[in-house]
Amino acid sequence: MTNPPRTLFNAVVCLQCGHAMPADLHAGACARCGGAWLDARYDYASLPADWPARVAARPAGMWRYAELLPFGDGLPPVTLGEGGTPLTRSERLGHDLGYRELWIKDERQQPTGSFKDRQAAATVSALRELGVDELVLASTGNAAAAYAAFCARAGIKLWVFLTSSVPAEKMRELALYGAEVVKITGTYDQAKQVAADFAAERGVWLDRGAKAVPGKESMKTIAFEIAEQLGWRAPDWYVQAVSGGIGPLGVLKGFEELHRVGLIDRVPKLAVVQSAGCAPMVRAWERGDAVATPVQPDTLITVLATGDPGFAYEILKRANDRDGGAMVAVGDGAAFRAMRRLARTEGFSVEPAVSVAFAGLEQLIADGHIDPDASVVVNCSGHTFSAEKHALEDRYVLHLDVPVPSSEPAHTSEGFVAALRQLDEQVTTVVVIDDNPNDSRLICRLLRHHRNYRVFEAHNGPDGIDLVRQRRPDLVVLDLNLPEMDGFKILDRLKSDPRTRRIPVMIVSAKSLEPEERALLEDRTTSIWQKGNFSAAEMVKHVVGMLGGALDQPDKPLTTTPRRIADGVLEAFGDLDRRRILVVDGNALDARLLRRLLEARHRFDVVEAHSGAQALADLDRAAPDLVIMDLALPDIDGEDLLADLRNRDETRRVPVIVVATHDPAPPLRARLAAQADSVWSKETLDRSSLLAHVETILE
Ligand SMILES: Cc1ncc(COP(=O)(O)O)c(C=O)c1O
Ligand SMILES: [Zn+2]
Repeated sequence: MTNPPRTLFNAVVCLQCGHAMPADLHAGACARCGGAWLDARYDYASLPADWPARVAARPAGMWRYAELLPFGDGLPPVTLGEGGTPLTRSERLGHDLGYRELWIKDERQQPTGSFKDRQAAATVSALRELGVDELVLASTGNAAAAYAAFCARAGIKLWVFLTSSVPAEKMRELALYGAEVVKITGTYDQAKQVAADFAAERGVWLDRGAKAVPGKESMKTIAFEIAEQLGWRAPDWYVQAVSGGIGPLGVLKGFEELHRVGLIDRVPKLAVVQSAGCAPMVRAWERGDAVATPVQPDTLITVLATGDPGFAYEILKRANDRDGGAMVAVGDGAAFRAMRRLARTEGFSVEPAVSVAFAGLEQLIADGHIDPDASVVVNCSGHTFSAEKHALEDRYVLHLDVPVPSSEPAHTSEGFVAALRQLDEQVTTVVVIDDNPNDSRLICRLLRHHRNYRVFEAHNGPDGIDLVRQRRPDLVVLDLNLPEMDGFKILDRLKSDPRTRRIPVMIVSAKSLEPEERALLEDRTTSIWQKGNFSAAEMVKHVVGMLGGALDQPDKPLTTTPRRIADGVLEAFGDLDRRRILVVDGNALDARLLRRLLEARHRFDVVEAHSGAQALADLDRAAPDLVIMDLALPDIDGEDLLADLRNRDETRRVPVIVVATHDPAPPLRARLAAQADSVWSKETLDRSSLLAHVETILE
């Protein structure tokens, strides 16, 4: 019996400064220059001489090239049958265009219909192994569909940021897979910026596209398959429609590696085809520029709408200077004509982005770039799946207007921050589980009326538990009297599942409680409300106070302090292995942002206190390992709270980080610094430095 194949991945190299680092699938930045463009390297000399035969004996699909992929032996892939797509020889189109040997790499036959499935399979597999359970992605459409499907399969919650020009059918497809879809009115480059900021604010993993190791490496398998399908031979040309460039970068690298190990005799020339309305690479190449100038996209072909290709162009330009190749732009009209021609001559229905590649092919031969005797492979993706509107829940797309001046897409302006805050409110999610539709509708309406929260309803226990698992809401509102599975049982289920254990639950029920029942609930819920016994305004105030309101409505003091919230602390601190952090901040929204940032490290349990009194109670009860506090609190001056902490025996040695809303004046800063471990200001806060500092303290 032969041993399982082992990866030969042995280093990560920074493409910007050449610095070599240890092999790490998740490397995020160069240790020397901070550059984000990283590249995997392998021990090519150890590739077995009979590699093609070994590969041929393995199951079809992209994972069969294991030696030249960066995944460890222990990585069980999240798979939907990706890769291993046919290479189909053109019967009639090639002849019509005057080519002798035209091949179509039929990536339509991937799980979600595009070559992005390779990237999604690789990236999601790697993230699942790392334990990541939430991911943010900006996409022009196809990567989103691919990631949504693979994330669904891996149980990873996905946030997708798209521009509003992405067709509604595509958004519905994503929603069907359970992804959270955020629609941005703005360019794709702006959507990327919003997604990055959203991910940083919430402390959620951000997909790094072509810069990261797993995605680009997965794209090499297109080259490996083509070479293998041609009998370990390279075509003369490889043609691809290009937006961000991960496809051509990966494919090129795959061919370069095969050339390096002697399996093919040359690296194919690469034809980069862009839509004329968004062709920054082509324009730069035509001018002979080493760096691309960003453009404002103006094309119907939204999948290809990357206006700023950045460093990807520089890499492709260098390859182009070395191996030959071409870059061409085609108009939308030419693309749609090519689409009809391909469908009629070959029976291939393709999406607009791919028709761009075929229109490019026509132009390349007309311009004399490609010789008619050359062998040519075109990457072909395909079908746009459409989901029925009525199969989806209400509000499956969140809409965000980004008032960023388009001339400076990279600049984070005030309006931008406001938009993010607005988004934070929109993504604040509540699930109401109540079998009485009138009651649940009333609660939903009340909450939606006061805040732009997303509220979902379920009318029985199993549906409710499903909904909570899928949506991971910020709050569950639970009734007790439900048929079949009652509220106590639902609560049991939620509290025993690690995915839902820490989501606050609030009881709103008509049931009159026995003292033991009440005691049981009080330990595990934030508050208990007796139907008919409270005013709607009071309840909404409580919820808003707990979840945090928008910044323009500073938290008003609650008329009834949510008494039980503090008692939920022990429950939240259930995981004794983790370090515990108490976040004290009078602004509930800031507290929540900080909590999410810390929680994303997966090493900390975090509890929020929104007042000095609550902080003191939590300190007694939960003995945190670190306190992070603001100075502005509703009931006590933060400086006094700090002094109090330092004076009490139990808390004297607990490290404290002050994160003040406004930069403290020098005398105050000096007084604080004498008592706290460090003093930061929210105005100038660098989140990653703060996190690094927290990690050092809790080491
Ligand atoms: C069919 C198709 N072609 C080309 C592209 C461009 O991709 P890249 O990011 O590799 O430039 C995409 C991107 O989604 C695509 O879906
Ligand atoms: Zn570097």
